[in-house]
Amino acid sequence: MDIKSIPNHELERLKQKAQEISGSKTEYQNEYSTLLTRRLNHEPIQYIEEFMPFYTVQLKVDERALIPRPETEYLIEIIKNKVVKPKSILDVGTGSGCISLMMKHLYPEAEVKGIDISPFAIQLATENATLNGMNIEFIQSDLLNEVSSSNFDLIIANLPYIPSSEIETLDLEVLNYEPLNALDGGDNDGINIIQNLINQIEDKKYKDFEIFLEIDERFGQKVIELLNNYDDVELIKDLADKDRYVYARR
Ligand SMILES: C[S@@+](CC[C@H](N)C(=O)[O-])C[C@H]1O[C@@H](n2cnc3c(N)ncnc32)[C@H](O)[C@@H]1O
Repeated sequence: MDIKSIPNHELERLKQKAQEISGSKTEYQNEYSTLLTRRLNHEPIQYIEEFMPFYTVQLKVDERALIPRPETEYLIEIIKNKVVKPKSILDVGTGSGCISLMMKHLYPEAEVKGIDISPFAIQLATENATLNGMNIEFIQSDLLNEVSSSNFDLIIANLPYIPSSEIETLDLEVLNYEPLNALDGGDNDGINIIQNLINQIEDKKYKDFEIFLEIDERFGQKVIELLNNYDDVELIKDLADKDRYVYARR
């Protein structure tokens, strides 16, 4: 990457981070040059800064988990406007823990569980809960395999949904730094993992719950078909007017 392709606001943020590391407002050139080299090598600015805001919580972010995206932040807004006082919440594919933390923030009385197949993500999510003084249970689990509770009022899943064939077209920032198993949704139009989750919910006979899924905008109808025995199934758009979320109730 060429320095000209780094926008000014990012250069300013790198300068501030360099000043923070050096502890000086004037003597930070070495630190700045190291950070700039990292950015020129396509490392995402959020990993360089180490922390980022997500809705109203502050998160530590690093290569252990995906950088939370604005679409997921908007999902929080949708949940906030639609869901009334859930008592138990499950966040499937928690990554950095961003959704779990925001659920605990919005519904402090609720019991929140976050699960992820990646032990590294679970480690980071746990650190983020501590950072925000929140009591959330994080469990390493392949979908619901290690989940013992018999029911939840609210299930949220932002699972990998990019078709495997499209992974290599992603930006170098993503390909070289973010965990690809957080993005790769498999061969079947990227809906394999979501489909497995819906099957497991069926097997475990959960009832009286609401579910929100973040999806690829092209495959909304496919996901809706998987939910044929649910009520109030709804495709919801993101801020870019793309079909990004599915809501359903049972
Ligand atoms: C798209 S990322 C979402 C991370 C976070 N929830 C967010 O919104 O930024 C998907 C997450 O699902 C996890 N994941 C992938 N397959 C899984 C599985 N079979 N069971 C549980 N988690 C899984 C990945 O490790 C990754 O952290």
